[in-house]
Amino acid sequence: PSTEGHYLRRVLVTGGAGYIGSHVVFALQRTQRYKVVSIDNYHNSYPKALSRLEEIARSGLRADATETEKQSTVIDAYECDLTNPADVRAVFEKYGKGGIWGVVHIAAWKAVGESSEIPLTYYHNNVTATIYLLQIMSEFDCTRLVYSSSATVYGTPPLVPIPETTRLKADSPYGQSKVVCEAVIQDLMHSSNMAAEPKRWRAISLRYFNPAGAHPSGLIGEDPRGRPGNLLPLLAQMAIGRIKESTLQVFGNDYPTPDGTCVRDYLHVLDLAAGHLLALDALAPDSTTFDNCPTPARYKAYNLGRGQGFSVLQILEAMRTTTGFDYKYNIIGRRRGDVPDLTADPTLAEKELGFRAKADLTTMCRDLWNWQTRNPNGYSSD
Ligand code: WQD
Repeated sequence: PSTEGHYLRRVLVTGGAGYIGSHVVFALQRTQRYKVVSIDNYHNSYPKALSRLEEIARSGLRADATETEKQSTVIDAYECDLTNPADVRAVFEKYGKGGIWGVVHIAAWKAVGESSEIPLTYYHNNVTATIYLLQIMSEFDCTRLVYSSSATVYGTPPLVPIPETTRLKADSPYGQSKVVCEAVIQDLMHSSNMAAEPKRWRAISLRYFNPAGAHPSGLIGEDPRGRPGNLLPLLAQMAIGRIKESTLQVFGNDYPTPDGTCVRDYLHVLDLAAGHLLALDALAPDSTTFDNCPTPARYKAYNLGRGQGFSVLQILEAMRTTTGFDYKYNIIGRRRGDVPDLTADPTLAEKELGFRAKADLTTMCRDLWNWQTRNPNGYSSD
């Protein structure tokens, strides 16, 4: 407990410097109920994001902020790779048994196309790392987990909008690595010796649809290393001139969708981050989220989406309007692992977590463009 006797729960965010991770850290700090620890290997992120987050958190403090509230603005950051368990164990050691209350596990490799080229690397970084993390959590009595899963676990879904009851059958090693991790976590939660476990382990998987946008301050945002694989950061970098192209290569327009291009369910990254907070609160001892299930569950999976899909061409049009950039486009062949339509049925998260993704596409594009114009070269500019 800190000086005021008020206890801040310490939460470890893996991938805390990344696009999703940094916005989740922002959401945790804003509540001033959590002390954040970040583990990141900076393979696809920058330490600069963490100092920007401390800047945002300090600017949010009241003049008469208590010691505890000030504590919530400091991020304990560690550079280490989750595939090195000794390094991860050393971080947990620092805080002792029970020192870390929960983990938000976001760090992963996530390029659908790339995963088909280097599947072993994807299984190592996504599955082995998760198993190491769960083992270390067990050793240190850390029994709350929010796991970053993905809509790609559904592969080509039989039904759209997609409910959580849809069978999991991914079409790429990336998506399959998420399916495997969900199974590992679920089996751990329901393992027999857990029944005797006094501290009820609980875990929630959040199946992200397509995160977009940035914190409206423009201080943190999406800045993948190398050429962006994702559509929106690519379009933003084209419009700012960081990528010297004005023609978008569209990966196929022969899909069974209104305009033939793939449809995705884009949600604002801050709405996505808010979903993580709701999930952590649902894991708290006093939460009843898990108890009013048919059988008191220890594991739940929720879609995080808006329930509204936009095609590639609709996104292109939205970014043309936001940036004023005169994009051209050229239809080329399909990208391996792409599926026609990933639109969420968001009702379970709304009902059980109180989750609502409010920001619309215009807001997502506006916040993305604000981040990009203030940081033409992302975090590496200054
Ligand atoms: C969107 C659409 C492309 C680039 C993402 C994440 C993945 C997972 C699922 C997190 C697709 C098309 C893109 C381009 C294009 N999320 N496109 N030309 O494929 O839904 O995957 O969500 O776990 O990690 O990457 O998003 O932004 O890559 O593509 O035509 O140059 O844009 O074919 O239909 P996707 P995306």
